[in-house]
Amino acid sequence: IIKSISALEILDSRGNPTVRTYVTLEDGTKSVASVPSGASTGQNEAIELRDNEKRYNGTGVQNAVNNVNTEIANALIGKNASDQKLIDYTMIELDGTDNKSRLGANAILGVSMAVAKAAAESANLPLYSYLGGTNAVRIPVPCMNILNGGEHADNSVDFQEFMLVPHGAPTFKEGLRYVAETFHTLKGILKNKGMATSVGDEGGFAPNCSSNEEAIELIIEAIQKANYKPGIDLSIAIDSAANSFSPNLDGNYDLSWSGLGKMKTVDLLEKSAEWIEKYPIILWEDPVSEGDWDGYVDFTKRFGNKIEVVGDDNFVTNTKYIKKGIELGACNSALIKLNQIGTVTESIEAVRMCREAGWRYFLSHRSGETEDTFLADFAVAMDGGHLKTGSACRGERIAKYNRLLEIEHELKGRSEYRWK
Ligand code: PGA
Ligand code: ZN
Repeated sequence: IIKSISALEILDSRGNPTVRTYVTLEDGTKSVASVPSGASTGQNEAIELRDNEKRYNGTGVQNAVNNVNTEIANALIGKNASDQKLIDYTMIELDGTDNKSRLGANAILGVSMAVAKAAAESANLPLYSYLGGTNAVRIPVPCMNILNGGEHADNSVDFQEFMLVPHGAPTFKEGLRYVAETFHTLKGILKNKGMATSVGDEGGFAPNCSSNEEAIELIIEAIQKANYKPGIDLSIAIDSAANSFSPNLDGNYDLSWSGLGKMKTVDLLEKSAEWIEKYPIILWEDPVSEGDWDGYVDFTKRFGNKIEVVGDDNFVTNTKYIKKGIELGACNSALIKLNQIGTVTESIEAVRMCREAGWRYFLSHRSGETEDTFLADFAVAMDGGHLKTGSACRGERIAKYNRLLEIEHELKGRSEYRWK
């Protein structure tokens, strides 16, 4: 039974305000959860409430905090914390909008996560078992973002994220080692070439490559130099985040950053075909922009039997859009970001919809994060097989990887690790 709920304005990994929420139960259990924040957002994401006042250049979250401390607390105190659905739908109804714009998805999600943590603690279960049951023993393959472009870096790479996928490793612990070693090897290669080794928002390097191909080739060089086999031990995943080079979010693209110039969906797909042919690419997220549904369908028709095609900005973890994608055959996987939809229950519903359609789903952090490790437990609970939570540096990313190491250790011989 919930005794108290309160919130605090804290900072995320980019130094922007976000919401931290505290929940206390009648039995004395206490929990805390912090909400992440994206930069390359989809248009239909649930709304983060920002104060629009002078402080923090308008990004303060005092109104969201206030909504937790008053309206939300009043509505939930006395309710059963182990009824996650009731808690989440009570907040959704209280908010009354279809994008959580009145109370703020940042206010609602913090409470949703903190309640789940408190209920787990109170039931004496680790969060992953509480949310996923005793069969939740699969540790996700860490798709590590090691090279950044697009909106996450100031260089001439159009695509936002290049990830290393250690699908050939026997365990999570080994997989994490493969990618961390390759990360350090890449750093050495960049240094030797006189390229920058500063990192982007998610901890990946952001060198000034002259093209997207150069970025991929540097990664392959690093994989080999670290003594791994490209395509066997480690493959590559790309998040184009194509919204960021599609000014009208339609079938027109502007890849001028990397010198490829303006192109239509068909040309972009031709380029993608070349890369998929040439490089060990295993997963591609948002290859086209969110309004280009035909583009998603064509891309999936063409490459979907070979690679995982993930929708992020088009689906925004919302069953309404995932359903449309399933009907159209746009993508064969959905990105799952808790704060895109704003409650734990709705995120689980999105996962369930993917599962029922035979789709995969890819658990994800945001580019603005905190030290909260909810995502690590959630990924194990959802049995999705893979997650992305940044690079082998930056504490807010490492916190999730360390939590996954801990879960694998805790499960002793019972843990599983496999790509599919
Ligand atoms: P974001 O980026 O958190 O800045 O939205 C992550 C992504 O596009 O997957
Ligand atoms: Zn994305």
